[in-house]
Amino acid sequence: MNSVKEAASDPQPDAFGRWLCAQQVTFMLGVASLGQLPPENLPEICFAGRSNVGKSSLINAVLGRKSVARTSNTPGRTQQLNFFDLAGRLTLVDLPGYGFAKAPKQMVAQWTELLQDYLRGRVRLKRAFLLIDCRHGVKKTDEAMMTLLDQAAVPYQVIVTKADKLRPGALTKRADEVEATLKKHPAALPGVLMTSSQTFIGIDQLRDQLGTLTDRKEI
Ligand code: GTP
Ligand code: MG
Repeated sequence: MNSVKEAASDPQPDAFGRWLCAQQVTFMLGVASLGQLPPENLPEICFAGRSNVGKSSLINAVLGRKSVARTSNTPGRTQQLNFFDLAGRLTLVDLPGYGFAKAPKQMVAQWTELLQDYLRGRVRLKRAFLLIDCRHGVKKTDEAMMTLLDQAAVPYQVIVTKADKLRPGALTKRADEVEATLKKHPAALPGVLMTSSQTFIGIDQLRDQLGTLTDRKEI
């Protein structure tokens, strides 16, 4: 099967995704409850993962900008669903992180419900990107998120983040471990994409993927 890892060495990348990610991006709104979701005018993708895994940083890296999405050393920084319009072609959603040990239980329950409703109800949600920190691997809360995505039938691509933090051998081992867990999950796309928002490993490949998810593909 053609995994994303193999695609990473593709010598003839599609220029469209890279062009797209260099276009204008606008923050649309932050949503804390289901009633506030914006209309579904465009194909949509979302970035999910534990608190501090690097979702907001990855969005900034992929868009080649420093502070489109707000990043922080404090886990739990992104507390709402943040919607961005990319060139009027694609909606990007930065989701609140889960698995934040210090968050009050009631808040966790509220976020989980909002996430569930969002994932199940969003008709134009074409793909979720599920981020896993290379140092931590797949945690119970990630498994729960995978199950949620399976149940909502949202195809998802797993992205290993902070690849700059591990040596190549350990990174490959981690990627293999993560890939093995994906076999149990029907909505998971095969392969993992290794990325770093600091060294930009894997970022062009992610741009290429975004390019495949728009309706209009001409530059
Ligand atoms: P929440 O909004 O709390 O869910 O976190 P998040 O997943 O959006 O994480 P964020 O992008 O805010 O990054 C968390 C921390 O990890 C920040 O200190 C980032 O600088 C750091 N970080 C993110 N990506 C990378 C990376 O690729 N490499 C390294 N070394 N650090 C990273
Ligand atoms: Mg964030």
